[in-house]
Amino acid sequence: MKLEDPNAAGLRAELSLAEWWMPFTANRSFKDAPRILSRAEGMHYWTPDGRRILDGTAGLWCVNAGHARQPIVEAIQRQAATLDYAPTFNLAHPLAFEAATVIARMAPAGLDRVFFTNSGSESADTAIKMAIAYWRAKGEPSRRIIIGRERGYHGVNIGGTMAGGIPGNRKHFPAMMAGVDHIRATHDLARNGFSRGQPAHGAEFADELERLVTFHDASNIAAVIVEPMAGSAGVLVPPQGYLEKLRAICDKHGILLIFDEVITGFGRLGTPFAAHYFNVTPDLLTCAKAINNAAVPMGAVLARTAIHDTIINAAPAGQIEFLHGYTYSAHPLACAALLATQQLYVDEGIFERARAMAPRFEAALHTLKGARHVIDIRNLGLVGGIELEPRAGAVGRRALEAHVKCFTHEKTPALVRFTGDILALSPPLIISEDQIAQLIDTIGTVLQSID
Ligand SMILES: Cc1ncc(COP(=O)(O)O)c(C=O)c1O
Repeated sequence: MKLEDPNAAGLRAELSLAEWWMPFTANRSFKDAPRILSRAEGMHYWTPDGRRILDGTAGLWCVNAGHARQPIVEAIQRQAATLDYAPTFNLAHPLAFEAATVIARMAPAGLDRVFFTNSGSESADTAIKMAIAYWRAKGEPSRRIIIGRERGYHGVNIGGTMAGGIPGNRKHFPAMMAGVDHIRATHDLARNGFSRGQPAHGAEFADELERLVTFHDASNIAAVIVEPMAGSAGVLVPPQGYLEKLRAICDKHGILLIFDEVITGFGRLGTPFAAHYFNVTPDLLTCAKAINNAAVPMGAVLARTAIHDTIINAAPAGQIEFLHGYTYSAHPLACAALLATQQLYVDEGIFERARAMAPRFEAALHTLKGARHVIDIRNLGLVGGIELEPRAGAVGRRALEAHVKCFTHEKTPALVRFTGDILALSPPLIISEDQIAQLIDTIGTVLQSID
């Protein structure tokens, strides 16, 4: 398929859109009307024809310090010219150790061993393998079942797909990993509609874990994996007391708790991790995205020392203890970007800034209550979800149309994410109050204009 009018999109006339099989995209309709980004800086993207788009989503929940930040750009450039690549299987380079130390020092207390991956999906599968390897090393190999949660998203690799709870992502791949089960999602529109921050009702949803423990027996369960705040399935904020309860039930039965912090890590809630925000510490924590401002693919799993030590000490001396890793684990460019990013977060007080801006973001977001089609609004930190009434027989179409119309808005275009009929906002943490107002105004006018 060729672009109908490639010059209008600022692309070379001979550019073909056919070859690239795009991820998580309706390829045919997208290629009929492509939305192309060619440059980014600070809070904005630019299209090839020079339109400036306000980034309401930090790319994909990942560019927390804003785009093309100079210290990060320079660190990557320098590193590419110094040590472009180094294997990390039985070899190492200094930046990898430095990066792990920086992350361990900012992590919740006790999570001080860091395994590098290249994405959130790889982090999820790595954590699942660590949990199973831990129980095996500890002499309880029957503990293999992983409990996820409905509407959970842990990426697209096999472990994450199976432990995830989004039916559309799972339906073509039944039972590729044996031994998973799910507790119910925490969303409760009837009781918690238009909540600001953590909803009041639903701590008892964690009790369902007790039911699964009775059903499977604790001696067979390795770990529970949840996003402390679910983002991809449409911004589902945990009810007050829910995560504490989940932690207590895991403790009672000796089950490991994994927090997937791929979205919530690195300031999204105004704290380094959601674990700090909620004051609930997991045993394993996955992250990616904003770890290095998404400038180079990277992820990580943070493990309690005891989990690390159990696996390491179970193997005979001189043998590889955990047979797992990626060619690009701790890639030098990713590590350089990580160190520059984390320094920038500190130098500019970016997490504190997000914390200070969160109440203003919340207030602006909730002005959309009463806007056309809106049936719920929810928020936490610098994350917002606006749920729309689905069109009869066409679930997701209204939000897709809103997304496109925000992007093509004549005066103040904005990038807004959608999932099902929920619009999701997660701007770079450097967003100003005026930009928040503009983002909400664009969404408000677009909602008025669509059926
Ligand atoms: C909670 C969570 N886990 C895992 C992932 C997968 O990350 P990636 O796309 O980097 O593989 C995502 C992506 O949005 C996520 O939100």
